[in-house]
Amino acid sequence: MEDGKDLRVVVTGGTGALGLAVCRAFLEAGARVAAVERRPSERLAKELSGFGDRAVAVVGDLSSAEAARRAMEEAAARLGGLRVLCSAAGAFEMGPFATFTDEQLERMMTANFRSAYHAAQAALPHLVASRHGKILFVGARPALTAGPQMVAYAASKAAVLSMTRSLAVELLHQNIQVNAVLPSTIDTPANRAAMPEADPSRWPKPEQIAAVMRWLCSKEADIVSGAELPVYGRA
Ligand SMILES: NC(=O)c1ccc[n+]([C@@H]2O[C@H](COP(=O)([O-])OP(=O)(O)OC[C@H]3O[C@@H](n4cnc5c(N)ncnc54)[C@H](OP(=O)(O)O)[C@@H]3O)[C@@H](O)[C@H]2O)c1
Repeated sequence: MEDGKDLRVVVTGGTGALGLAVCRAFLEAGARVAAVERRPSERLAKELSGFGDRAVAVVGDLSSAEAARRAMEEAAARLGGLRVLCSAAGAFEMGPFATFTDEQLERMMTANFRSAYHAAQAALPHLVASRHGKILFVGARPALTAGPQMVAYAASKAAVLSMTRSLAVELLHQNIQVNAVLPSTIDTPANRAAMPEADPSRWPKPEQIAAVMRWLCSKEADIVSGAELPVYGRA
């Protein structure tokens, strides 16, 4: 895989804390980037405006396979193909198992697993066409390490890791590497507000995780596929 400026990258969850940092990391390396947002927002356009026509926003609710397909078609058309999918869409809800509702379970599975599954399936023909693609998923530490009140979230992220392993094998001979990063608690404004007593200096910053994700898409990492890489910081 070539580095930097020849990359064409689509990032889901482009309006999110991590997704936006991932967009910036690739744009700063000279890549062309399509950020997928669930609904049109002026904020994303504004955040990306400094990068000129190398950055585009594409709308797609990834709970729908058809909307994902349209979003990836548009991203590929506007960038001139796709080499990399960074799947950073997701959501978090926790609560006691005894009272966790089916609607909450459905939200976790859709935001975390289905959105990644739909994005990867929709991006795949474009990655195959590029003859050398990368898929990066975002898992989470609770997929590996048990904690209370996280059954649905942990299961949805464990499904993302299972998909990482399966796809890494399935796509190996199409020269597509599939990896996942596993953040602990990320240093985001939302987490700072939710946990005012915590020490955020221990949490990995979105920019630090984005830099690791960018490295996983570099030439040096071409031999890496099927990895589930912890990015825990000191948390
Ligand atoms: N924050 C953490 O501490 C942490 C820890 C471990 C793992 N992670 C994972 O890291 C990723 C990014 O987290 P974050 O903190 O950046 O989250 P965030 O700020 O809440 O952003 C999540 C993004 O996903 C998008 N999204 C959710 N459902 C979608 C759908 N159906 N279709 C399209 N887009 C959808 C959201 O769009 P809207 O703005 O429209 O809702 C938003 O852009 C997630 O996968 C999360 O599970 C986060």
